[in-house]
Amino acid sequence: MAIATSDLRNDIGPQGVLPAQRKSWQPRGKIVASQNESSGSHGPASPMTAHRSGPLNGRLKPPGDKSISHRALILGLLCVGETSIEGLLEGEDVLRTASACRALGAKVERLGEGRWRVEGAGLGSLLQPSDVLDFGNAGTGTRLMMGVVGGHGLTATFDGDASLRKRPMRRILDPLVLMGVEVVSEMSGGRCPIVIKGTAEPAPIEYRSPVASAQLKSAILLAGLNSPGRTTVIESEASRDHTEKMLAYFGANITSVPEGAHGRKITLEGRPTLTPRAVIVPADPSSAAFPLVAALIVPGSDVTIEAMMMNPLRVGLLTTLLEMGADIEILNPRIEGGEDVADLRVRHSALHGVHVPAERAPSMIDEYPVLAVAAGFAKGETRMRGLSELRVKESDRLAAVAAGLAANGVGHSIEGDDLIVTGAGRVAGGGTVATHLDHRIAMSFLVMGLASDAPVTIDDAGMIATSFPTFRPALERLGASFVTGDAG
Ligand code: S3P
Repeated sequence: MAIATSDLRNDIGPQGVLPAQRKSWQPRGKIVASQNESSGSHGPASPMTAHRSGPLNGRLKPPGDKSISHRALILGLLCVGETSIEGLLEGEDVLRTASACRALGAKVERLGEGRWRVEGAGLGSLLQPSDVLDFGNAGTGTRLMMGVVGGHGLTATFDGDASLRKRPMRRILDPLVLMGVEVVSEMSGGRCPIVIKGTAEPAPIEYRSPVASAQLKSAILLAGLNSPGRTTVIESEASRDHTEKMLAYFGANITSVPEGAHGRKITLEGRPTLTPRAVIVPADPSSAAFPLVAALIVPGSDVTIEAMMMNPLRVGLLTTLLEMGADIEILNPRIEGGEDVADLRVRHSALHGVHVPAERAPSMIDEYPVLAVAAGFAKGETRMRGLSELRVKESDRLAAVAAGLAANGVGHSIEGDDLIVTGAGRVAGGGTVATHLDHRIAMSFLVMGLASDAPVTIDDAGMIATSFPTFRPALERLGASFVTGDAG
């Protein structure tokens, strides 16, 4: 029977951890590489400058979806037998998850570009990792794998780069503790490195999620997979549903029903027989966002983005840009690999400011930095409401976006959790933007520089490889002008 979280909360401390579990951190295995704020673990910072470009023209297929790529590898790990994946994003974040799957007992092989095979260890039969699970910059990999490890009787250390070490993990640890996981050690405020001792008998819980987070929901469901009972997650704002869809596709008994005005109640029966399946990864709308906005703001552009995933829980940016007057044609809608996809023909457009409601945030959470760039080129005020979650991404994105806008002469303000950009129809540029180990800050401001009066420089392009390793050549093929180094 499900245990209501309210019944358990009184037994634990205010942050969900028994005082005895608050120990100082003791590493298990070695911690790799020293990390610093400017370069993380990827070597020296590599500045890059974007110059005002001529019209962007041509076709571009964005890389595979990052969320689905992580999940395909993880479900492959949890099946017995061979899972084949096509279109896997070969970015650093996903490669870290592949390594973690190997450390937990899977055989993971690359067969060709984007083509991978996973021979799983199977639910309930994972191996004890012998070393630290180092997720680099990847919050998704870390949080989903905390769920996997938490639902097995394994002890593992989770760590990553300087950005990951700042990100809050307490939101994941709280429900896992309710399921029986022990937090052996953590850095203050529930930060990595974190050591957890999972349980082979995770308690079935019903959990009301305090934040609209697919990572949190997925961690609970992945832990619940090995539970002898039923695990329920209730979210008041629906977040991306890739875990639910993929679990159903692999044979789990999982239901998702509407809850309140915008939410969902998801229920998973534990200990399913998971059957390996072929996964085709659709193109990532969060990566497509960069060429899409670039085509809208560079005069004369006409670009077709191929096979972009149109999952309704991922298309908030598209909805917003259409409201802003963007000339985007949705062509050839179809279903590929179980997801809605379509080609988008995008032409340079005169944009105007709009108000973006808070309830849209989960469906475009990673797209606000590049929307802020589009808003700078629009005429009038764009108000984006309810952005508190942006403060805990790869960087404090609210602060990083505001600083980038300021450096390039774009009027803006932050009021509470709202970002207000006052667009003037053009952007002065000429600034240097601090990226804080954040790939999406890096790509957003490079896109700005393609249409601003003066070039825009970012202090470090290195992190772009985490999600869109082909960003530079893909945009250069359309006509974008980037130069390594600063504007000189
Ligand atoms: C993701 C969920 C979102 C998103 C992240 C990927 C996922 O994070 O920002 O890039 O794959 O589940 P939150 O769950 O923190 O909202």
